[in-house]
Amino acid sequence: MSTATTIASAAGTTAAKVLPVHHAPPATLVIFGADGDLTKRLVVPALYHLVQAGKLPHEFAVIGVDHNHRTTDEWRQSLSEMMQAFTRAAGIDAQALSWLTDRMHYMAGDFTQVQSFSQLKKLLAELRGYRNIANVLFYLAVADQFFGPVIERLCHAGLTQQSGEAWRRVIVEKPFGHDLASAQALNAQILKVLSEDQIYRIDHFLGKETVQNILVLRFANGIFEPLWNRDHVDHVQITAAETVGVEGRGRFYEKTGALRDMVPNHLFQLVAMIGMEPPISFDADAVRAKKTELFQAIHTVSAENAVRGQYSGGVVLGRKVVDYRHEPNVAPDSATETYVALKIGIDNWRWAGVPFYLRTGKRLSARTTEIAVQFRRAPYALFRDTPVDRLPANILTLRIQPDEGLSVSFSAKRPGSEIEIDGVEMDFAYRDYFERLAAVGYETLIYDCLIGDATLFQRADTVQAAWHAVQGLLDSWARDPAKDFPNYAAGSAGPYTADRLIARDGRAWLPIRADHPHTAVRP
Ligand code: BG6
Repeated sequence: MSTATTIASAAGTTAAKVLPVHHAPPATLVIFGADGDLTKRLVVPALYHLVQAGKLPHEFAVIGVDHNHRTTDEWRQSLSEMMQAFTRAAGIDAQALSWLTDRMHYMAGDFTQVQSFSQLKKLLAELRGYRNIANVLFYLAVADQFFGPVIERLCHAGLTQQSGEAWRRVIVEKPFGHDLASAQALNAQILKVLSEDQIYRIDHFLGKETVQNILVLRFANGIFEPLWNRDHVDHVQITAAETVGVEGRGRFYEKTGALRDMVPNHLFQLVAMIGMEPPISFDADAVRAKKTELFQAIHTVSAENAVRGQYSGGVVLGRKVVDYRHEPNVAPDSATETYVALKIGIDNWRWAGVPFYLRTGKRLSARTTEIAVQFRRAPYALFRDTPVDRLPANILTLRIQPDEGLSVSFSAKRPGSEIEIDGVEMDFAYRDYFERLAAVGYETLIYDCLIGDATLFQRADTVQAAWHAVQGLLDSWARDPAKDFPNYAAGSAGPYTADRLIARDGRAWLPIRADHPHTAVRP
């Protein structure tokens, strides 16, 4: 959330106020879990894109730490091959890639062992000697049980000590705890050795352009914010539907489930962007304070306002898939939910009485993440004596992915002598206005961390407030395991009980669709 502001208008002109561009300062990035999936699929491609965009400083180095024995040359070679495959269609930018790999060093080390940290300290000192880099960013791309111990060992080795201008920061990946108590314990553990401004808790949804755009949509336009409250909004629907199953992560998913995996983190980020009060600036604490206040105003979710589901076998995108219980590393009688739908209430002046319905699931009919803000219907009286039998609601749909854009539905008079009404849509698609940048979503997050902008990262109290809102539901589901699993077919829209949850309030879910019908028919 930094750098210049440029606004492309509908007429194609561009209004730009150029703020100073922050160049990332010299830094060494230390990646724990250098051989892991996250490093290969997201961190290294993001670094490569940052090199291409000219955002990394000349004095930059990467140290990869993992337990496998291999040399720096072997590590560079394997990442180069991975990047060649990754950029297959676009072709590799050999110069950018070698700029990056030349700066990469591998250190075989077990990060559960103290000596690995003294070894790392020596390597950092050597790099400091010949590259003159004092700042260090530690990236914990490791399983969550290592977050606390690795940070403690870093501290005991003196590696988190900041001096003068030289900073030390730590990126902590998701999941940040698996419930309120464990999130509190992890915060307490790491805040003993780090200060809050050294900790960058990632939620990768905040790396998505379309998510960041929600604040711009709301606060850079005059037409939305006056309507953005309980006087005008009937309800909000947030959907994160996936077609994938557990993608070989059965062991992780069995103890996690859809609620923990998606709700207090990713879906709540969307709730926050839609629901928060305007911050006074983009300053990290101004934004994060507003988000935290919003989470603190969420009523604790009860089991009556929640539905869980687990998929059976079925057909997804034309391909037959097995039921969840037959995925590798999943118990044959698993009670883990792969789908969740919730109704949440926000108890503040803006949103009291406006339900937010959230749903997310694996193996659904289509992949889409979207937010639909449904406005109150117009009064009908004027149309009593016309063929119009009801007035449709206006819906503002924010398509987060994959068909990024936004649409507004409204009523229009069908041409003819009678007053007849049709629902029509105005649509904005990102691809019609903006060049698609090669990005995996981690570019902004890594860059922001290097420049010390924590706006898109979670503060301790924000994470805890989010867990607090769902803790009651986690407890009641743990006490009362589902008896009807599996209860939705792979390739469907989820369990029928989710339809009942919203129908109870006289409302219905919008269809789950991959392509927005309007943009899909464009030539
Ligand atoms: C991850 C979850 O955090 O987010 C996954 O662990 C999920 O289960 C993924 O598939 C969704 O992210 P995205 O960016 O693909 O929507």
